[in-house]
Amino acid sequence: MKAVILAGGAGTRLRPLTLATNKHLLPVYDKPVIYYAIEKIVAAGIYKIMVVTSGEHIADFIKLLGSGQEFSRPQGGQVQIVYGIQNEPNGIAYGLYIARDYVGTDDCLLFLGDNIFEDDLTPHIKSFRDGARVFLKNVPDPQRFGIATVNKKGTVTAIEEKPEKPTSDLAVTGLYLFDSTVFDKMVDQPKSARGEYEITYINNKYVKEGKLEAVLLEKEWFDVGTVDSLLAASMHMQEKERRKARHG
Ligand code: TTP
Repeated sequence: MKAVILAGGAGTRLRPLTLATNKHLLPVYDKPVIYYAIEKIVAAGIYKIMVVTSGEHIADFIKLLGSGQEFSRPQGGQVQIVYGIQNEPNGIAYGLYIARDYVGTDDCLLFLGDNIFEDDLTPHIKSFRDGARVFLKNVPDPQRFGIATVNKKGTVTAIEEKPEKPTSDLAVTGLYLFDSTVFDKMVDQPKSARGEYEITYINNKYVKEGKLEAVLLEKEWFDVGTVDSLLAASMHMQEKERRKARHG
C-alpha cells in the first residue's frame, strides 16, 4: 500500500491566508496542517508517500518535509516521501492521476491533505482487499457535503453532491482506499460542470461495480478548508494537549 497526499488546490476560501502560501503549510495549533496527514498515515504502517502539490509551492514542502526521514518510527519502516507536481488545480481525481506511475500496481490510500482524522486507520488498511473504501462521518448539515447512501451490507449504493433532500447524514470525507483499477477508471473521464476531474466520478464507477465499501468514522474529523474549521481544529488540538498535560 502506498499513500498519496493531495496538497494542491487553490485555497480560495482561506484567502488572504493562502495568497502567499499553501493551505497545507498553515498551522493547526503547533504543527503545519500536512503533518497531521503524514503522522496518521505512518501510524497506520504506510511508509511510502507521495505529496502532490503545485509547482509554485513544492520547494516549501521539500524544505519542510524533505525525504520524510524525521517521520520514521524506531520500530517501523523507513518513511520515504516523494513529490509530484499538479500544474493546475483541476480536480482531486487529476491530483491522484499524477501519482499513477508511483502507485503502479499497488493499492493506494488517497488522503486530502486538508483533512484531519482522529480515528486509527490501521484496521481499515489491514483488512482492505480490493475495490474501494470511502470513510464517512455523520454531519448535522448534509446539504453541504457529498452524501452517501449505504445498504445493510455496508456497500455504498449512491453518492450525491450537496443534495437538496439528503438521503442520509453520512458525509464522504477526504480519505479513500483504492485498488489499482482506479487509474483505469480515469480513462476518458470528462470534466464536471465546474471544470474539475471529480473523485465522485471515480467513486461512482466503483458503486456501479458494487465495490465501494463504507467505513463510518467514530472520532473527530476536520476539513480545515475554511477559517472557522481551521480555528476549530487548532482549538481542539490545544485542548487535547492541555488534557494530556493535566492527566499525563
Ligand atoms: P478543496 O478544499 O475542495 O479545494 P481547494 O483546496 O482548492 O480550496 P477552495 O475550495 O477554498 O478554493 O480541496 C480539497 C483537498 O484537495 C485539499 O487538500 C486540496 C486538494 N486538491 C488538490 O490537491 N488538487 C486539486 O486540483 C483540488 C481541487 C484539490
